[in-house]
Amino acid sequence: MTTDLLVIGSGIAGLTFAIKAAKALPDKEILVLTKAPSPEETNTNYAQGGVAGVWDFAKDSFDKHIEDTLIAGDGLCDPRAVEVVVKEGPDRIREIIGYGTRFDKNDDGDYNLGREGGHSEFRILHHKDVTGKEIERALIAEAERHNNIRMLDEYYVVELLTQHHLGYLVTKSSKDITCYGVYALNRNTNSIEKILASATLLATGGCGQAYRTTTNPRVATGDGVAMSYRAKGRIENMEFIQFHPTALFEPGVSPAFLITEAVRGEGGVLRNHKGEAFMEKYDPRKDLAPRDIVARAIDSEMKKHGTQHVYLDCSPIEREKFMQHFPNIYEHCKNIGIDVFKDGIPVAPAAHYSCGGVKTDLHGRTSIQHLYACGECSSTGLHGANRLASNSLLEAMVFAHRAFEDVLAQYQEGSLQKFNQEMASLTLPDWDALGTSEPKEMILITQSVKELEQIMSDYVGIVRTNVRLERAMRRLDLLFEETEALYKQAQVSPQLCQLRNLITVGYLIVKGAQFRQESRGLHFNTDYPEKSDLLQSVIL
Ligand code: FAD
Ligand code: SIN
Repeated sequence: MTTDLLVIGSGIAGLTFAIKAAKALPDKEILVLTKAPSPEETNTNYAQGGVAGVWDFAKDSFDKHIEDTLIAGDGLCDPRAVEVVVKEGPDRIREIIGYGTRFDKNDDGDYNLGREGGHSEFRILHHKDVTGKEIERALIAEAERHNNIRMLDEYYVVELLTQHHLGYLVTKSSKDITCYGVYALNRNTNSIEKILASATLLATGGCGQAYRTTTNPRVATGDGVAMSYRAKGRIENMEFIQFHPTALFEPGVSPAFLITEAVRGEGGVLRNHKGEAFMEKYDPRKDLAPRDIVARAIDSEMKKHGTQHVYLDCSPIEREKFMQHFPNIYEHCKNIGIDVFKDGIPVAPAAHYSCGGVKTDLHGRTSIQHLYACGECSSTGLHGANRLASNSLLEAMVFAHRAFEDVLAQYQEGSLQKFNQEMASLTLPDWDALGTSEPKEMILITQSVKELEQIMSDYVGIVRTNVRLERAMRRLDLLFEETEALYKQAQVSPQLCQLRNLITVGYLIVKGAQFRQESRGLHFNTDYPEKSDLLQSVIL
């Protein structure tokens, strides 16, 4: 199959890019692939709190949003990325409003702005507590209005197609590594198809599934990061995994249901088993301190009291306000027997967001030519060592727009047309499945995934030590060897590919954590409790 522009992922990043490209390039086909049975099954669809953006200029300013983002990022943000996201963000928000996204308004018709941890002002636009669902709905509806967008569900992208597949030796130091498209498993025919494109966008989302407890849906297995790493692309700062402080504590339920930070923004208070509001012991911003601080404080309280969770007390929030802003949380809790107005909600931290990812420049370009990345799979420099709440939907839109502009410029100057002609002269091989057979014991794959989650949760969680990281690496090595041996013999399946990708992502997180001999932002190692004077990103 050949297309003009290939987009892997149907969340906010992929669809924003696809819609813009479809409008500006009506004679080009934009193919959007998703591995899930339906396009809305994305991290985007689960976003609760909202989108941060400076809206009320009487009280707020770009400078304040920039400052909040830089503080959360703990010295490692790229100030250029912060500036473009904060300043271009409101225009991108206006665009999705134009596609039909309905953000909540006050009685006077102004947007009802929320506040979350680390934000000095009220600047979060939201749709009740189901913002992501509303955005995803509007984006899919808009994408469907364009005949030149083709969306294919249940297409699992297995590998990026580069010179490696032409038989060349490609290493990390190779210059001009080029992406010609992908190999993707069509789950309906169970065959691997070669899909060629003039430019490919990775918008594959996060990797929360590497951990036992995560807010991320099952699609979040770090595929884009792992594929890029295998193709010798640059991956940055994977050690910075954000744990959301307040996932509902329900053992065995995956993904964990999120209790949005906006609940604390409206006055919710964290309490330990003795009923003490403990956050003031940890940070003067109390319950609205940045997430890394709140998650570590909860972790410390749980360890001190030997408990598996703390409580979120919602009684300071007026009933009417709670029902208006958080109807989904109210319903979910009610269904499991929690009355949020009387009972504290049991909450514990859960893996939530990957701040690092495929390294890009300010136009979404990766180190591999003709390969772009945006959204959660990318590392644009915005988040540094810790993401500020509600900045990721914003980042995805801003960088999808910037990547689109870069592609448009390349079409305008003719370079993509030229690349297309060059590609036509190459003999890019079909997928070689020779010598493989159906795996006899699929259960081995499931067990290995469980082992991986266990390793990552036990040894590479909120608080790390050198010994734990060494243990994790040794165990990951073994899993890697076993899985690669299986991969060589077994027919490709999404389960096997996801296991492989999760192991690669686990390796990148541990390796990054071992390189970072300091504690900064989301990475806390008790063997190096201080920040180093040297500000550096880990690039693998
Ligand atoms: P996603 O929306 O995750 O989309 C990924 C897409 O890639 C999917 O379509 C998937 O099928 C596809 N894909 C992946 N691998 C493959 C493959 N191998 N082959 C084919 N397709 C593939 N952020 C905020 O800013 N505000 C919030 O309020 C907020 N709340 C959140 C609440 C929850 C519970 C969660 C989980 C996250 C939240 N986030 C929030 C984070 C934010 O939702 C995500 O970072 C963002 O939506 C990611 O968008 P994306 O387009 O990069 O990826
Ligand atoms: C939340 O609603 O608490 C999540 C917001 C985010 O992850 O940015």
